[in-house]
Amino acid sequence: MKIMPVSMPKDIDKYFFNRTKDINMINTQLSTVKFDIPPQLLITGYRGVGKTFLLRKILNDQSSDILTVFLDISEIMGRQKGNLTEEEVLKAILNAIGETMAQHKKSYKKWMEKIALNIKKLELKDYDFSNNIEIFDIPIPVISDNYDKLSKFVMELPQKIVDSSDELNGFIIVIDEFQLLKNVEDPEAFFWLMRSFAQKQFNVGYVFTGSVSKTAEIINMINGQEGAFGGRLIQINIDPFTFDETKRYIDEKSNNLKFTDEGFKRFYACTRGIPLYINSLSSVLPNNSVCDENIIKQTLQLNIDQVAIMWIYIWGRLSPGEKDFIIYLLEHDGATRATLDQQLGYSKSSVTRFIDSLLNQGIIEFSRGNKFVLADKMLQFWLKIKFETNGCYPL
Ligand SMILES: Nc1ncnc2c1ncn2[C@@H]1O[C@H](COP(=O)(O)OP(=O)(O)OP(=O)(O)O)[C@@H](O)[C@H]1O
Ligand SMILES: [Mg+2]
Repeated sequence: MKIMPVSMPKDIDKYFFNRTKDINMINTQLSTVKFDIPPQLLITGYRGVGKTFLLRKILNDQSSDILTVFLDISEIMGRQKGNLTEEEVLKAILNAIGETMAQHKKSYKKWMEKIALNIKKLELKDYDFSNNIEIFDIPIPVISDNYDKLSKFVMELPQKIVDSSDELNGFIIVIDEFQLLKNVEDPEAFFWLMRSFAQKQFNVGYVFTGSVSKTAEIINMINGQEGAFGGRLIQINIDPFTFDETKRYIDEKSNNLKFTDEGFKRFYACTRGIPLYINSLSSVLPNNSVCDENIIKQTLQLNIDQVAIMWIYIWGRLSPGEKDFIIYLLEHDGATRATLDQQLGYSKSSVTRFIDSLLNQGIIEFSRGNKFVLADKMLQFWLKIKFETNGCYPL
């Protein structure tokens, strides 16, 4: 039986569809890492559009002269129970580098020893070795008051690794869910730190990505005129599948799903070409009958919790004020800032907080007509169905 997964599968290539253009575009940028031009990218796109999947595939397919690291900030944040610090992020980068190297242990033994020596050379008096994370079998110092040294060490390491091997031409570091870096103590300083090292390392590429609206404040913080990267990050937006791509994707990868023409139009309207929704809706559709408009509509209504499952988690983590904000946008088809200030029933400073937070999570976006609107149709649909069936919105 063919499966269309809704979470990250181990065998990416088996399930990955298309994206040739995006892959070529991103790889063209990344390839400059071999020619001493450090690529710095920012990949945006709707939730579930496939940014993580795409970048994992791109990293997997890099040639053997490029080392890669994939860092998911949400994992670090989860481990730290929500308390993210600069030190934890740096340690996670270091650990991820260690894991990458461990995979190539045999072939790179020589220069691993070299790096191990470098680690030893660090002045250790301010570090504490109680923590037993290890890299190349050498304990990593846990920082106490020597942040400067730790950051320098970690941020310079990838270039040192490349420099120490004739077989290597570059190092690519992907930072997923980067918007969560906003939770470190001084996010602006942290982005500046990354930038200051990134621009001096000619064979190290950084790719930032996450579930964040194109107009989010965090994007300004990292890449706006006043931001650390000051517009130097090349911003690439990943679009949902087109109508035709969705059709081909279903033909190739679905478990023999069949549609009438109108049925497929409805399917596309519901999923809007977002692979996460294509996969989750496909998994609940009957594959023993030709799906028409009605089957699509009914199946979606009956299985909305399964199709929109991502939103159940996200909704549960929002504050009551943020939920009120979203419901207001839903019921009024979007709203301007002035209307929100007057009508929402919260202070202006609270409204500012809601806007920042929801933009940074990619839940709302700023649209034409100076309105804030909900970024995701499935969220709207889920809320509407919940209201219709329960008489109230989810708590
Ligand atoms: N090119 C693709 N081919 C097949 N399935 C895909 C593709 N891209 C994404 N998917 C499916 O959609 C799901 C969501 O993709 P992914 O997690 O990469 O989205 P995302 O853009 O990173 O979302 P978020 O913003 O929530 O992190 C994946 O688990 C995968 O099942
Ligand atoms: Mg993702």
